[in-house]
Amino acid sequence: MSLPYAADLRQKYTAAGQGQVFTFFDSLSATEQAELVKQAALFDPERINELAKEALHPSPAADSSPAELEPLPASATASILDSDPAAIAAWYKAGLELIAQNKVGVVLMAGGQGTRLGSSAPKGCYNIDLPSQKSLFQIQAERILKIQQLAGASAVVPWYIMTSGPTRGPTEAFFAEHNYFGLDQANIFFFEQGVLPCISNEGKILLETKGKIAVAPDGNGGIYQALVASGALADLKRRGVEHVHAYCVDNCLVRVADPVFLGFAASKDVDIATKVVRKRNAAESVGLILQKNGKPDVVEYSEIDAATAEAEDPHQPGVLKFRAANIVNHYYSLRFLETIPTWAGAMPHHVARKKIPYADLATGDTVKPTAVNGVKLEQFVFDVFPHLQLSQFACLEVRREDEFSPLKNGPGTADDNPYTSKRDIMLQGRRWVEAAGAKVTVSGDARSDVLAADVGIEVPPLVSYGGEGLEGFAGKEVVAPALLE
Ligand code: UD1
Repeated sequence: MSLPYAADLRQKYTAAGQGQVFTFFDSLSATEQAELVKQAALFDPERINELAKEALHPSPAADSSPAELEPLPASATASILDSDPAAIAAWYKAGLELIAQNKVGVVLMAGGQGTRLGSSAPKGCYNIDLPSQKSLFQIQAERILKIQQLAGASAVVPWYIMTSGPTRGPTEAFFAEHNYFGLDQANIFFFEQGVLPCISNEGKILLETKGKIAVAPDGNGGIYQALVASGALADLKRRGVEHVHAYCVDNCLVRVADPVFLGFAASKDVDIATKVVRKRNAAESVGLILQKNGKPDVVEYSEIDAATAEAEDPHQPGVLKFRAANIVNHYYSLRFLETIPTWAGAMPHHVARKKIPYADLATGDTVKPTAVNGVKLEQFVFDVFPHLQLSQFACLEVRREDEFSPLKNGPGTADDNPYTSKRDIMLQGRRWVEAAGAKVTVSGDARSDVLAADVGIEVPPLVSYGGEGLEGFAGKEVVAPALLE
């Protein structure tokens, strides 16, 4: 890195009022200087100023009338709970056929830092203490393997795994260490989302140390630009993929490349589809899928007002009006993803107020603040929904107990923790083997009437993807807790 380049960059930051980034520059070693210059060159300080200004002091909307929020119309929704079983079977068949034709790809969002969970490893490496001791990554990989098998010998479902600065290294190492869980490495594509500088409450870019800008992943909405920049989109196209299932790493029940969902969305010929479950209660930390001013949208739990969260359905007293909980299972047509360059630059940034470790500009020491001292800027993956007309969007309601049990919180918390993840896999397995005609008894002191992990059965994905193929257990006795082989 030539010195004049560093001087230019420093001048650019200073002119933008962000010269504090270079406070300690002259005291750094040559290597440290080069590192800081490399990092600072990633950002345009004027653009960061604009983002910071909009985030900290949002301009009033041109149209100040309140947004009109309504549940999605019936025309854009379907529910597994009350659909004709023949329709569900037809979606399954159509989806599996698309997989057999190698027209399906899967994108995993795994760039989050999992701060609430309190583990420093990527969330996908987390062991939820199943009898098999499988990590979330392994469970998901095996579901891909199984769906490939169900679709036919030559079916390949490529897996695009979005990581971020903090999760890339450990994620790739974990996959290599576990031999890609039996998948062909050639069909796994790791890519990295972008980062943005952390900003003080005054709009200044924070340093983390004397020679390093404090940065954070740019939110799961960073997926769109990252798909293009990494070449993942080009790879999808090269392979002839037409239908993409994108999902979050933290849901142990996720039906990766779910044929029902793919068949549902493809048969409707929409550009985006999404799965929802019934919201548990008004306080649950989930986004709500709805229509806003006549367009599909999500109101995120961190931004919802109490009146909207608690509103009751006028036709069903006691039932929430907005109850379509976003479980971050999205379908995209490839033709839609190809339009990313035309809109991704205009995706909005949301503000997450955080305690951000920063370098004290007087001493250079890194301080761990005890109160919120700044903001991280994040894009949300669903902010693209309002680009579509309702006719290009579809929503499928699925059973929570079959498809959604997220790992958000650490052990010992009330909900959405490692224990509830394990329990929900074990109870689902038990339902499957019972439906296949097995008799489940419970060993030891466990009470079979209590919905606990130790009355359940782990059915590994390679044994069954979604409850199919268990006929051999009809009439057999299975003692819980058990791991079905
Ligand atoms: C998310 C949804 C919320 C939904 C809930 C269900 C968004 C913006 N919010 O909220 O509407 O109801 O899940 O569980 O989608 N991630 C990245 N890069 C990042 C940040 C996150 O890849 O920079 C990934 C995470 O690894 C994870 C997923 O996005 O797989 C969701 O992240 P998380 O922060 O846990 O989302 P929630 O706040 O729970």
